[in-house]
Amino acid sequence: MTAAPIVYVCITCRGAGASDVEPRPGALLAEAVERVAAGTEVTVRRLRCFANCSRGPSAAMRANGSWTYVFGGLDEQNAGALIEGARMLAAAGNGILPWRGRPDILKRGLIARVPPLDFQEVDQ
Ligand code: FES
Repeated sequence: MTAAPIVYVCITCRGAGASDVEPRPGALLAEAVERVAAGTEVTVRRLRCFANCSRGPSAAMRANGSWTYVFGGLDEQNAGALIEGARMLAAAGNGILPWRGRPDILKRGLIARVPPLDFQEVDQ
């Protein structure tokens, strides 16, 4: 798997307490992720809502042919972990983000992983 990874960040997430504080925690996370990604092969895309609002701030990552990983409970301090994880995912030969060596927030904050379009379970 050699495709450049993409990190998606929800800019409308309010975070814990769901307050109306501006800028929203999701937007702050997006800014931090963009800063860390600058100069790397990682693309950062902003979006509005993963439908993970109650467990935000939220972000997701994928690379061509990989599984897609959705994370929650993030904050600006996790920007580096998201970029590190995205690079690990892009380098993984099987399209799966390795558990070993994965930043801790990408273990604790994992909400879901979604298979690639052509995925079929082999033992069904
Ligand atoms: S507002 Fe961020 S997941 Fe819904």
